[in-house]
Amino acid sequence: MPKLIIDSKEVSFEQGQTVLEAARENGIKIPHFCWHPKLSISGNCRICLVEIEKLPKLVISCSTLAAEGMIVHTRSEKVINARNAVMEFILINHPLDCPICDEAGECKLQDYAYKHGTGESRFVEEKNHKDKRVELGPHVMFDAERCISCSRCIRFCDEIAKEAQLTFIKRGDRVTIVTYPGQQLDNPYSMNVVDICPVGALTSRDFRFKARVWEMSSTASVCQGCSRGCNIDIWVRNNEILRLTPRKNEEVNSYWMCDHGRLNTFKFVNENRVGMPYIKSGGELIQSTWDAAVNKAASLLKTVNKDKTAFIGSASASCEDNYILMKFARSVIGTKNISYYKYIDENFGDDILRRSDVTPNSTGADLLGMNGYLNYSNLSDGINNGSIKAVYLMDDNIVDKDPSLEALFSKLDFLIVHSSNMTKTAGMADVLFPSAAFAEINGTLVNFNKRVQRLRPAVALKEADRSLDGMNVSRLDKFGTGYDRWAQGRKRDALSGWKIISMIAAQLNNKFKYDTAEDVFNEIVRSIPEFAGLDYELIGKNGSDLKVKIAQPTLKA
Ligand code: FES
Repeated sequence: MPKLIIDSKEVSFEQGQTVLEAARENGIKIPHFCWHPKLSISGNCRICLVEIEKLPKLVISCSTLAAEGMIVHTRSEKVINARNAVMEFILINHPLDCPICDEAGECKLQDYAYKHGTGESRFVEEKNHKDKRVELGPHVMFDAERCISCSRCIRFCDEIAKEAQLTFIKRGDRVTIVTYPGQQLDNPYSMNVVDICPVGALTSRDFRFKARVWEMSSTASVCQGCSRGCNIDIWVRNNEILRLTPRKNEEVNSYWMCDHGRLNTFKFVNENRVGMPYIKSGGELIQSTWDAAVNKAASLLKTVNKDKTAFIGSASASCEDNYILMKFARSVIGTKNISYYKYIDENFGDDILRRSDVTPNSTGADLLGMNGYLNYSNLSDGINNGSIKAVYLMDDNIVDKDPSLEALFSKLDFLIVHSSNMTKTAGMADVLFPSAAFAEINGTLVNFNKRVQRLRPAVALKEADRSLDGMNVSRLDKFGTGYDRWAQGRKRDALSGWKIISMIAAQLNNKFKYDTAEDVFNEIVRSIPEFAGLDYELIGKNGSDLKVKIAQPTLKA
């Protein structure tokens, strides 16, 4: 590989790489605002200036190709003076409203002002004032005074979201960003501009002013919005999820996620939860204890012929929960009536990230060997013709999705439900168990491309104090704080599906010997060939491909 020297260190690079990329790959930091690894180069912020021997002037490293034998200085006096000047220039009209800015704590401008600024300004004139609250679209607010005109957001829309919606207007210190006439910033990926904005100019209308970033813990997890399984960080304060942000994973979602996943897949964890177990009595759900609910479920399950009980797992539940549901149905109850619903929305998928399968773990449920998936009509037929008399339903609000099931479910001898939220389906249960949501558990999901990825607890449950949901604390620390330090007194009484089922199994004299979700996963690895060779450690933060690949469809002429 060709080599160049940066700050007296010889480093190799690939043909076609810029000086900034070569430096970055070798651990040498050159400041940059407008450059982003996934966007075209615009070269307009000038903070990445470096000195290259034999060139008369400083050059921007983000657009200068590295060349064999080049000698680059990133910390010479000339470079430092130039950076100081660029920072002073960028800050001339900046409002310096960091105390009320959402970006504070994760702002490149703030960080670089400390690192590369002089700490003072010679600008004594009146600053140029611009609009501070511009609704660019349904999810993004623009503060024109904070903008440093790096154009990342414009290039993101043009190149990644493939919908040209933003542009510059005016010149010089009047320059600003607007949407094209008659348009809004409303593409399905619009909120990624908030993540890549290096300052606080673009903010999320959903998250604005909710918390300072240093008040929150962040935990590596997986989005629930569709079968892509975009890697995310879950941001929590006071045991409440305040935002999701995409986490880089080149095998799955690169740096991005869609607005639907970011906004619509976490609020249910904070609101309208099933706070405790319930048993139906006189048509009403009455609060109960765990022991009483487990006893009731066990005794109901003894009353119906095993082949007339249907077990419905969930394409939104973890592999661990679905596996234990199947094991319970087969080995404790003795039925093969185990299925799950797959939800396809052809209007949702696109050729960027979004998939038409809008559940995060249907591939996992298939690989575990669930009997294909039910559709509403065969469940209805079964209930109508009396071949299904009881249903054990885990984590799927199917009555909301098909209201006709409401009348059908009332014909059942009994309905046992695990649900994290008070839904229509939960309201119909004879025994209702509060189940932990994806952000409260350890577990695994398998995305459409057969990549196994980890869920980790970002929100603490009551039982977490006792068992840490079966997780090794040192491993939690590695990937996120896991348990919010402010959570005391705000923990919910819910359990993972595999734990609830294990308690019922014990009541039916079948002891499932798992202490942790990891124990369940290790059994999956031993018994399902596709998972062979995996463990939680190996899956790590970025997931791991299963050995079996999905066959690519052959195109017919
Ligand atoms: Fe090179 Fe902006 S990062 S000019």
